Amino acid sequence: MAARPEDQVSEAQIAVHWREEAYYSPPPQFIAQANAAYPDILERFSEQRFPDCFKEYADLLTWDSYWHTTLDTSKPPFWKWFVGGRLNACYNCVDRHLRTSRNKAAIIWVPEPESEDTKAITYQELYRQVNEFAALLRDHCGVKTGDRVTFHLPMVPELPVSMLACARLGAIHSEVFGGFSGAACGGRVADSQSHVLVTMDGYHRNGELVDHKVKADEAVETARELGHEVDKVLVWRRNPGSYASQSPMVEGRDVFVDELLPDYRGTVVEPVSMPAEAPLFLMYTSGTTGRPKGCQHSTGGYLAYVAGTSKYYQDIHPEDTYWCAADIGWITGHSYIVYGPLALGATSVMYEGVPTYPDAGRVWRIAERLGVNIFHTAPTTIRMLRKLGPDEPNKYHYHLKHMTTVGEPIEPEVWRWYHDVAGKGEAVVVDTWWQTETGGFLGSTLPALQPMKPGSCGPGVLGIYPVIYDEEGSEVEAGSERAGNICIRNPWPGIFQTIWGQPDRFVQIYYQKYCRNADSQDWRDWPYFAGDGATQAADGYFRILGRVDDVINVAGHRLGTKELESACLTVDEIAEAAAVPVMDEVRGRAVEMYVALKPGVAPSKDIEATVAEAIVREIGKIARPKHVWIVADMPKTRSGKIMRRVIAGISNFTDVGDVSTLANPEIVDDIRHRIQSEK
Ligand code: PRX
Repeated sequence: MAARPEDQVSEAQIAVHWREEAYYSPPPQFIAQANAAYPDILERFSEQRFPDCFKEYADLLTWDSYWHTTLDTSKPPFWKWFVGGRLNACYNCVDRHLRTSRNKAAIIWVPEPESEDTKAITYQELYRQVNEFAALLRDHCGVKTGDRVTFHLPMVPELPVSMLACARLGAIHSEVFGGFSGAACGGRVADSQSHVLVTMDGYHRNGELVDHKVKADEAVETARELGHEVDKVLVWRRNPGSYASQSPMVEGRDVFVDELLPDYRGTVVEPVSMPAEAPLFLMYTSGTTGRPKGCQHSTGGYLAYVAGTSKYYQDIHPEDTYWCAADIGWITGHSYIVYGPLALGATSVMYEGVPTYPDAGRVWRIAERLGVNIFHTAPTTIRMLRKLGPDEPNKYHYHLKHMTTVGEPIEPEVWRWYHDVAGKGEAVVVDTWWQTETGGFLGSTLPALQPMKPGSCGPGVLGIYPVIYDEEGSEVEAGSERAGNICIRNPWPGIFQTIWGQPDRFVQIYYQKYCRNADSQDWRDWPYFAGDGATQAADGYFRILGRVDDVINVAGHRLGTKELESACLTVDEIAEAAAVPVMDEVRGRAVEMYVALKPGVAPSKDIEATVAEAIVREIGKIARPKHVWIVADMPKTRSGKIMRRVIAGISNFTDVGDVSTLANPEIVDDIRHRIQSEK
């Protein structure tokens, strides 16, 4: 890998380097019906046609007024797309489909208890619900165009309804993944300065009815500690009329949405015509410092990009039953459950719960029952289903034409199970590489036109020109087997606009590293630094190795090492903490925490448990470490920096490199013996 500061550790550093060069061809019946079936599309999106090639995506939308400038580069790297154009995202995802598809299901929702009925929400019904909730937000809460509204909602149809209601008003929504803790949610509420928090009393997961409203109380409290007041907490009820939470409703602040909605029955709210570059939503993601980054996505560019990539890469047709089994709390759900498919007028399936409860056949049962033919999930889920129910797919009658994997590198043998067993060898598989920041896909095969190669995402997608640079900024040649930092040479409509409230950090993190000339208005001087290590094979296909920064991707969820470490330091007994990634059979990567205690404190299992609990409290269950190791001291440089790379080497049984220059080299063997005897 590229050279890195000594005290950092990266996933790419521990990545397994597989060499897989086998190609798989898309089935002929897929090619025959594909949205992108002819190679001329590659020509239409060639570099010479940039940026006008993206008009093809923008033309999938209905504009109130057309743009005069496709790409404005006057203030790099704050690119503006489709400048002068106006549109409303909700109108594009709902209203415009009424004429032809009023009675078609927009959303099919599968609740967790299998005894509970699946709900199909037609475009007409979605239109009604979105209008009524938009009226409630506007008239009861005073939400206006440009205001931020935070949601802390689980996988229920009320989540897309809430998103689209905000979009209708031109308000900026910020959904915090339901599994995040109240404290994590509160930090995001304060950062976005949201005065309204939308939550739900409870939801089903893994056979339990989870109390969720309690987290809203914590979130409000955390926001208050950060100097920000929440005025209103809107509580959807999982089962209107009955309350699934222990948390008391706070007079004047908390209201049940189902009690207020009747006041707005039949109200129609005019969709607000927004400039293309107006922000549509914020999506927080972990960064290299403790403060999460609110990635700000635009209305016109984002919506055009997700509509275009849904059409050509997800190959969604009006008659398909499309299921992206991600959580809407992540960018995948925003782009490829809600905005992309609904902009195309498709039917989008969403589900409550987990893929493996009540058993490992659940996913395939749903596919059979609903006639799902496009399926989208993450390697973690695939690994889990392969482990727990390797033969389950054979028990169900479903036929997929298309499958996606997203979020983490997928091992070739896992890919093959997905293709051969889950897809019954009938479906094309696309491995899509992208990020919260990028709005939509960056790397993938165009399913009918480019063969698949297990474990590689493929080339850059239409209109995206990736490149690998070494630390000095020289291009790493395709086929050289050398790893480096993958960057994108050009802007694209789905790229986020800035980090909410932190424009300098935006420039510094994503553009500074390889910017050739800070005074230049030529986009060629501003490559986008993705923060991933990668190699490129001679055929031009990329293989993503993992993050090169202090971010650990656990089961496709990004966690910042600094966030994890500061959560540990909330425990009184802890003096120092270091988070490192370790390889994990199911989740791809997991977190191990190394902690050193304050003088005079004796190590104990209790302290280990308290550290794990502190992380769950501060961040959420997804961050629970695989192991907490209490060590006598951390390996440190002479200047006192903790050498995470050395710890990661010990933890993963890989080379720790030269440790002779450490301030305390003896500690390395000490920790190694301890780990080897206990792992
Ligand atoms: O390291 C890459 C990995 O996930 C990171 C982005 O995470 P997030 O912003 O949460 O978005 C996930 C869903 C888009 C990337 O920097 N990643 C994403 N897709 C892939 C991947 N790694 C390998 N292969 C992929 N297909």
